[in-house]
Amino acid sequence: MNYVITGGAGFIGSHLAKSLLEKGHSVKVIDNLSTGKKSNLDGILEKISFHDVDVLDYQSLEKIIQGSQGIFHLAALTSVPESYLKQKEYNDVNVKGTENVFQIAKKFHIKTVFASSSSVYGNTKNIPTTESEKRDPINPYGITKLQAEDLAVRYSEHCDVVGLRYYNVYGQDMITGTGVITQFYQNIQRQKPPVIDGDGGQLRDFVHIQDVVRATISAMEKNTGSTFINIGSGTVTSILQLANLFIKYSGLDIKPVFTNEKEGNVRASQANISLAKRLLGWQPQTKLKDWVESLYKS
Ligand SMILES: NC(=O)c1ccc[n+]([C@@H]2O[C@H](COP(=O)([O-])OP(=O)(O)OC[C@H]3O[C@@H](n4cnc5c(N)ncnc54)[C@H](O)[C@@H]3O)[C@@H](O)[C@H]2O)c1
Repeated sequence: MNYVITGGAGFIGSHLAKSLLEKGHSVKVIDNLSTGKKSNLDGILEKISFHDVDVLDYQSLEKIIQGSQGIFHLAALTSVPESYLKQKEYNDVNVKGTENVFQIAKKFHIKTVFASSSSVYGNTKNIPTTESEKRDPINPYGITKLQAEDLAVRYSEHCDVVGLRYYNVYGQDMITGTGVITQFYQNIQRQKPPVIDGDGGQLRDFVHIQDVVRATISAMEKNTGSTFINIGSGTVTSILQLANLFIKYSGLDIKPVFTNEKEGNVRASQANISLAKRLLGWQPQTKLKDWVESLYKS
């Protein structure tokens, strides 16, 4: 099949590109390299077609996407703290950029699987959270994802649109990112303690990149109809537990330090993944503890 990945030079998109190639598909990547890197595609650049294009550039987008059989729309600005400072930019890329992709999908009748986020839920009453939970995001990034979902509902009248609500995705190549795992990893590399925002009691659902990639490809391949699906591990880890996992497996004699809670962080987040299991025939396989341990095994 001929697939397009927007945001394909990013963390999730580059892993997705590699996996699709391994399965024998052809892949076009659209990415303006604002946060992604061409080096994420090392080893496959010559096997894909790479387009340094902004998702806000409708004309170029249309030319590249025309003739493909599926779109994975992952391009977005993704930092919660930054989304407070650059609300217009976040709205442009995450909402208008998404609408561009949906318009083209509609025009050519192409199925789209796009990256939504667990952030659409905000501070939910019910944990683990099912897809029918009220959506009430608490930060500008989450609001853009909510608006993208609303667009998806509108465009799903014309073509299949599947929104995957990714939880906290982790994996080796994210060690240069901005998330909590990246920060802990980088501090430990410098023999410094992990710095916890708040009391460390915040609960997160960490899901491994390879599990996310399998779910994302299944969402394209399976005949699910238009829907939203949680993609998490279904388990929770507190931020303090995460810090202690890094300390334990790195073998350093340090303790985490605590600082002020940051704006826009939900208290607890855990996916109910029954729908993903049922619709995608999918099951997460990698455990966070095993992955952290593997980082420090020589
Ligand atoms: N990583 C996670 O834990 C997580 C959780 C929930 C949702 N998501 C969503 O999954 C998707 C991928 O996330 P990621 O972690 O790989 O992030 P990432 O930042 O590594 O990748 C996003 C990619 O989009 C590209 N991009 C940004 N603006 C663009 C534009 N205007 N035009 C073209 N390309 C542009 C960036 O250069 C980058 O390569 C995003 O939509 C994100 O919101 C990620």
